[in-house]
Amino acid sequence: MKKVAIIGAGQVAEKVHAAYYKTRTQELELVAVIDPDAGRARDFAEQNGFARSYVDAAEMFETEKPDMVSICTPNRFHFDNVMLALSHGAAVMCEKPPAMTANEAQQMRDLAAKQHLVLAYDFHHRFATDMREVKKAYKDGVLGEVYMTKAKALRRSGVPGWGSFTNKALQGGGPLIDIGIHMLDAAMYVLDFPQVKKVTAKMFQKIGTKKSEGTFGTWDPTKYDVEDAVFAFIEFENGGLLQLETSFVLQMKESSVLNVEFFGDEAGATLFPAEIYTDRAGELVTILKKETADEERHAKSMQAFVDRVLGADVMVADAEQGYQVQRLIEAIYESAEKGESVYL
Ligand SMILES: NC(=O)c1ccc[n+]([C@@H]2O[C@H](COP(=O)([O-])OP(=O)(O)OC[C@H]3O[C@@H](n4cnc5c(N)ncnc54)[C@H](O)[C@@H]3O)[C@@H](O)[C@H]2O)c1
Repeated sequence: MKKVAIIGAGQVAEKVHAAYYKTRTQELELVAVIDPDAGRARDFAEQNGFARSYVDAAEMFETEKPDMVSICTPNRFHFDNVMLALSHGAAVMCEKPPAMTANEAQQMRDLAAKQHLVLAYDFHHRFATDMREVKKAYKDGVLGEVYMTKAKALRRSGVPGWGSFTNKALQGGGPLIDIGIHMLDAAMYVLDFPQVKKVTAKMFQKIGTKKSEGTFGTWDPTKYDVEDAVFAFIEFENGGLLQLETSFVLQMKESSVLNVEFFGDEAGATLFPAEIYTDRAGELVTILKKETADEERHAKSMQAFVDRVLGADVMVADAEQGYQVQRLIEAIYESAEKGESVYL
């Protein structure tokens, strides 16, 4: 049996992490939940079948000695908790983003390697079957040379009304570090993480500080200190270009867009649902078409982590890739703040 703990007893911890661990209790012993809010930790433990609750992570590690830990705190606390877990010999599933800075993500990667421990990030969109189809087509050359990619994580009125998602000090930023990062990871993963040459970005804060309610509840506009939207161009050493558009609140027709499009010289593809197509003399020819996207991504991401810790050779969003994505997030913010391109 492997002992499991969860740090940060919030909504993703319950809906995703605990929900999955509960399905594997033949192999996993659910030992502890940690949250600075003692009542929250206790209620979470009781309701989700964890044996004990703590307010202090260090005390929990000394007492329980867990083999694997989920980190589900606000972003600001990912680094300290991941480092603590790894130094106590626990494998880690850390929520996205990996950390607040590239330097932190690098230290986390290096410690995981030194300790020979799994450090995975919950970039769950990677685990959709749609992703497998498009990645295989890319690998097999069906798309030809992909010279343009468009990644979008856009909401018309989707400022999160819970947690600390509008607080820069706790989150490190707004839509880019929260939702844009998912489609950035998805695009980079399909493209096999090409070497980045240059990043150019612009960001806006136009609506979140004026409005106070939307699809995901209410927020305090006087405390909204993250960006509303980021638009970025990432140029690769291989000559290709990736355009990323992300926003919590943008005056657009659709209520939400979460997708990546790939444009190759042989064919084009869309990720969710997976579709691959090409033009033949003005006619659109479908090469592959899934009617609906795979929505079991969260559970599959958790499954990959648990299976990997138990010894299976399965893909996880690993520590090196997490560092690469964090480096891009940092470069995008840096370019937007400075108003100039950043060379990597
Ligand atoms: N993969 C995804 O799609 C996805 C979805 C939602 C959230 N997330 C990520 O999960 C994390 C948490 O988000 P959430 O929506 O569950 O937020 P939440 O506000 O619901 O939960 C956060 C919890 O962490 C606790 N906490 C605060 N500081 C702590 C500390 N130092 N140590 C331990 N616990 C602490 C809070 O008391 C709260 O219970 C964020 O990093 C977010 O980006 C990822």
